[in-house]
Amino acid sequence: MKIAVLPGDGIGPEVTREAVKVLEALDLPGLILFDGDVGGIAYKRHGMPLPQETLTIAKSCDAVLFGAVGDPDCDALDRHLRPEQAILGLRKELGLFANLRPAKVFEGLEHLSPLRPEIAKSLDIMIVRELTGDVYFGDKGQRGEGDARTGWDMMSYSAEEVRRIAHVAFRTSRARNNKLRVTSVDKANVLETSQVWRDAVRAAAEPHPDIELSHMYVDNAAMQIISNPDQFGVILTGNLFGDILSDLASAAVGSIGLLPSASVGERQTEYGTFGMYEPIHGSAPDIAGQDKANPMATVLSVAMMLRHSFGREAEAVRIEKAVEKALADGIRGGDLGGSHGCEEIGTAVRERL
Ligand code: IPM
Ligand code: MG
Repeated sequence: MKIAVLPGDGIGPEVTREAVKVLEALDLPGLILFDGDVGGIAYKRHGMPLPQETLTIAKSCDAVLFGAVGDPDCDALDRHLRPEQAILGLRKELGLFANLRPAKVFEGLEHLSPLRPEIAKSLDIMIVRELTGDVYFGDKGQRGEGDARTGWDMMSYSAEEVRRIAHVAFRTSRARNNKLRVTSVDKANVLETSQVWRDAVRAAAEPHPDIELSHMYVDNAAMQIISNPDQFGVILTGNLFGDILSDLASAAVGSIGLLPSASVGERQTEYGTFGMYEPIHGSAPDIAGQDKANPMATVLSVAMMLRHSFGREAEAVRIEKAVEKALADGIRGGDLGGSHGCEEIGTAVRERL
C-alpha cells in the first residue's frame, strides 16, 4: 500500500505528521510512505509549486495524503508559480474529477455552528463537486488596457463530464444509505452550461429510480443550506459552485479544523480507487510551527483514504470513532475554543484507536 505524503506549507507538515502517526498505529501490513514537496516549499526548493518529481511520486502510489499549500512569501509571484497551482495541477494530472466534502456537525459541538442548534443538528451533507472542468480549466485570458482591459474565463461542461460526476453522486448517495436523495445544483435559468448539466444529470439518474433527484439553482441552494439543511443528502454540483457551496457548508458546521475531503477519479489500483485526501482548511501561516493546529481534519482524511482507496471500511470507522471519542472526552484544538496542541490531539486520537 503505497502512499505519497505531501505536507506542503504552513501547518501542513504538523497536521500531516499526526495523521501519519495515526495511520501507522493501525499497523497495516505493507504500508510504504513516500514524501514529496508541494506548494510554496516546493517553489523555494525546486523553483515550481508542483515539481515533476512530486508528480511522479504521486502517480506511482495508490493514494496521496495532502496537507495544505499557501505561503504569504509567494503572494506576489506569477499565477503559474503560486502554491495553489500545485493543487489544481495535481487534480488535473491525476484525473481527480470528483471531490467529496462531507459537512456534518459532530455531536456535542452544535454550539460552534453559527446556526441555531436545532438546525445545526440536522446538517449532514455530502457535497460532490466536479473538480477538473468548468470555468476553472476553460480558455482564459486578458486583453486591452485601461478601461478596455478585459478578462475572460470560459465556462463549459460536456455531457460526458457531467455523466461521470453524476454517477459518483448517485453511488455516494447509495453508500451513505441514510437519505437516498441527490440535489443537483446549477444555474440553468441563465447558463447554457447548466442546461447541458441538468439534462445529463437526468439521464445519469435513470438507473437509480429509487434515489430522489431534484434540481436547485445555486443562489437558492446557498440559502437553503443554512436555513433548511435537513432537506439535503448529497449535493451534486460543478467546480465553481462547489467551491463556494462547500465553504458555505463548512462554515455552517462551525469547525473547519474537523472537515476532511477526498478527490477521486476513475483509476483503480489493486486496493481500490486512487485518490488524494486533504483537510479542507488552508495552511494557516499565522499559527504554523507553533503546535496550535488541529490535526483532526487530516486524521479524518486518512479515514476517507482507507475507505475509498484501500477498501478498509473497518479501519476507517475505527479512526472516525477515535476522533469522536476524543471530542466527546473534551479534547479540543484552538479552533474549537480549546487549548490542546497538535501533537497532544494526535496522541489522544491514537490512544482511543
Ligand atoms: C479548494 C480551494 C481551491 C479551489 C483553490 C486553492 C485553488 O479553494 O480546494 O476549494 O478553488 O478549488
Ligand atoms: Mg475552496
